[in-house]
Amino acid sequence: MGYSRRDFLSAVGVSGGAGALFATMGALGLAPSAEAAAKGTFDPPQPSDFSLTRRSAKKVVILGAGVAGLATAYELGKAGYDCTILEALDRVGGRNWTIRGGDRVTELDGSTQVAKFGDGVYLNAGPARLAQWMVTMDYCRELGVDLEVFTNSNAQAYIYHQSMPAPVRWRTAKADMYGYIAELLSRATDTGALDAALTAQDKERLIAFLSSFGAVGDKASGFRYSGTSRRGYSLNPGAGDQPGTPLGSVPSLSEVLACGVGQRLSFEFGYDQAMLMFQPVGGMDAIPTAFAGKIGRQRIRLRSKVTRITDLRDGVEVEYQDRHGRTQKIRADMCVAAMPPHVLAKTAHNLGTEVQAALATPSVASAGKIGLEYRRRWWETDEDIYGGITATDLDLATIWYPSYGYGTARGLVVGYYNFGAEADAYAALNPADRRRRAIEQGMKIHGAKYRDDLLSSVSVAWKLQPHIEGAWVSWPSRQGAYQLLNEPAGHVYFAGDWLSYMIAWQSGALESARKVVTALHRRVLSTS
Ligand code: ALA
Repeated sequence: MGYSRRDFLSAVGVSGGAGALFATMGALGLAPSAEAAAKGTFDPPQPSDFSLTRRSAKKVVILGAGVAGLATAYELGKAGYDCTILEALDRVGGRNWTIRGGDRVTELDGSTQVAKFGDGVYLNAGPARLAQWMVTMDYCRELGVDLEVFTNSNAQAYIYHQSMPAPVRWRTAKADMYGYIAELLSRATDTGALDAALTAQDKERLIAFLSSFGAVGDKASGFRYSGTSRRGYSLNPGAGDQPGTPLGSVPSLSEVLACGVGQRLSFEFGYDQAMLMFQPVGGMDAIPTAFAGKIGRQRIRLRSKVTRITDLRDGVEVEYQDRHGRTQKIRADMCVAAMPPHVLAKTAHNLGTEVQAALATPSVASAGKIGLEYRRRWWETDEDIYGGITATDLDLATIWYPSYGYGTARGLVVGYYNFGAEADAYAALNPADRRRRAIEQGMKIHGAKYRDDLLSSVSVAWKLQPHIEGAWVSWPSRQGAYQLLNEPAGHVYFAGDWLSYMIAWQSGALESARKVVTALHRRVLSTS
């Protein structure tokens, strides 16, 4: 039943388009439920789409073995398309890059680093976190990629602004900020300042909420915030006569506002950053590795740099330089260009001046990371931090503690993950100076052990990564160039996170690949 129903739906889709398909699915009771509706629907191509319509699967050349290119080949491959991926690097994954001991990092400034990390220690130099609602989770299930929790917010990690006397734990910052908000709002409510907006019962309920939200005193105390155990303890509760010593020196409201700590707190509300978040066990590159295994490594030509894209009357020709420096050509029916737009813009093609202008439209963003491998996991043993992120206004921006390998001997901390001008400043330094600067900054939070227990490091500046040359892009608008590149240019389709509303997320690349696969397959079924 499922088989023929699907064919029937394909036929409706091919002849009547998506609107007709959706209406028919609704009539058959197949329309998505309200809960599932937040996810786009995707119907992967299947062999029967060809066998039952006596059409033949086409040859597709895919430019780039990043997440978008791999997903394209994987999905088209399900129906028997003959896909070949050309990849300039000597690995798959693109920005999904996990660096382990022995790996080499060469940047466009000529510097080379070789990672010395111990067994099981890795740096996810690119993507490092997955939100539960992202399609990336579905691919992990389908590909058999094991997941574990990635701790994106941790009450025990720090916030540090240079205007503060010392770093504070997130829990302390929250307790103080929420406490003072509750105090002020309770008083304003109680004295009638909000009477125009609140009924008597609303006021009562709001005050009850604020009492629990901020842990403030009662009306008799003026709803005073005077600190709470939520801030933490200088001596933890223990056995017998040891009730614990709550963390002292509660800052004044004025001090809390002055250091700007409250502005950090919205991070964990973000749709794309809220806990729980996840990571593949053993490194993010489990995703591209699994894709490549399903596609077949023989379909992926590494160290093959695209030098020219020529759209033809009845197909496409791509010229590339192979691993031996020889010029090669590949002919195909269709092409999916899943390279960064700014790299495509530097590649010769005959797709027209409008396409060229569109490819050059988005601006390229910088980001950088350094992995610091330590001989001991001092963040766990000395500071009780098991994963999570410290946020700062230092040029290192954030420090990440590993969400894996708890309690083992060594471990790797991300010593900076920064963007924009801060990333550019680190990119301009050689690897040794980047490390020196990161350590000097990080010691402001963690002290001398941050320097003394360091074993090795590796840093990545995304703008200096060959064939990638940027962390991600941003569009001045979603009109014009963005829309143009979301359509094929002759037989050439474009795919990547840069053509989605989830830029800098693998889910954006995956959704874009699905969109292109759907359009390309529909075209093949309707025209061949
Ligand atoms: N998606 C990227 C991140 O989470 C930008 O850091």
